[in-house]
Amino acid sequence: MASQLRLRSALALVTGAGSGIGRAVSVRLAGEGATVAACDLDGAAARETVRLLGGPGSEEEAPRGAHAAFQADVSEARAARRLLEQVQDCFSRPPSVVVSCAGITRDEFLLHMSEDDWDKVIAVNLKSIFLVTQAAAQALVSSGCHGSIINISSIVGKVGNVGQTNYAASKAGVIGLTQTAARELGRHGIRCNSVLPGFIKTPMTQKVPQKVLDKVTGMIPMGHMGDPEDVADVVTFLASEDSGYITGASVEVTGGLFM
Ligand SMILES: NC(=O)c1ccc[n+]([C@@H]2O[C@H](COP(=O)([O-])OP(=O)(O)OC[C@H]3O[C@@H](n4cnc5c(N)ncnc54)[C@H](O)[C@@H]3O)[C@@H](O)[C@H]2O)c1
Repeated sequence: MASQLRLRSALALVTGAGSGIGRAVSVRLAGEGATVAACDLDGAAARETVRLLGGPGSEEEAPRGAHAAFQADVSEARAARRLLEQVQDCFSRPPSVVVSCAGITRDEFLLHMSEDDWDKVIAVNLKSIFLVTQAAAQALVSSGCHGSIINISSIVGKVGNVGQTNYAASKAGVIGLTQTAARELGRHGIRCNSVLPGFIKTPMTQKVPQKVLDKVTGMIPMGHMGDPEDVADVVTFLASEDSGYITGASVEVTGGLFM
């Protein structure tokens, strides 16, 4: 994708920014000129992402306006609200780009899945997106600013996956939530889209047995798993005005898997 500073004046909040897709998204958005508020449950990982972004925010005691790291559990209502407050206090404006990448898996066959594994995955993968999308949209609407909200779902939310009833349900929920938010927020100049990655090389998929990965890779028309940067490129397009008339979309980044 052509490199140009398409996000020069944007402030981007990225959750799950300490690893995998969230880190790649942070790097790509910063590369396009955005100031990044990198949030993760793991505060040290978020700080490491900010260090990777370079610029003044990567130094200790970063001046205001530079990239900044935030520690928060976005599945908790109070923490999500506080995160938006902290970001606005730090940068004196709400984020105009919000990318929710925080996510977990707790795989088990339906016949054996515990209520706790169900609840935890729904809380982190779906409730957090409600909390962050709502808090960000409230901040944007009350300040009269336009924005682009991008929620990371999964192709599994569309087609299901053995051992992932909780994960598939959470990711299907993200698609419906995002489409509904797009319908409600369009009149405020806020676009909402979801991205559905296929199998991407990150710490999340490193937990999947190699035998399973080999089998899935054999089904991918492009013949290989994706890189986090493949997802980051699409997120950056959705964050920018190049996608100014796109809202409510669910964009698949799968190498053709399950098309
Ligand atoms: N890797 C893939 O193949 C793939 C495919 C489809 C969708 N996804 C989705 O992409 C997103 C990123 O996944 P990834 O592969 O980069 O995983 P990852 O495990 O590398 O990164 C996830 C990050 O989210 C953070 N996180 C977890 N719970 C959190 C919480 N409660 N609050 C704040 N941060 C939290 C983790 O600390 C971690 O840094 C997830 O939503 C995942 O479901 C990944």
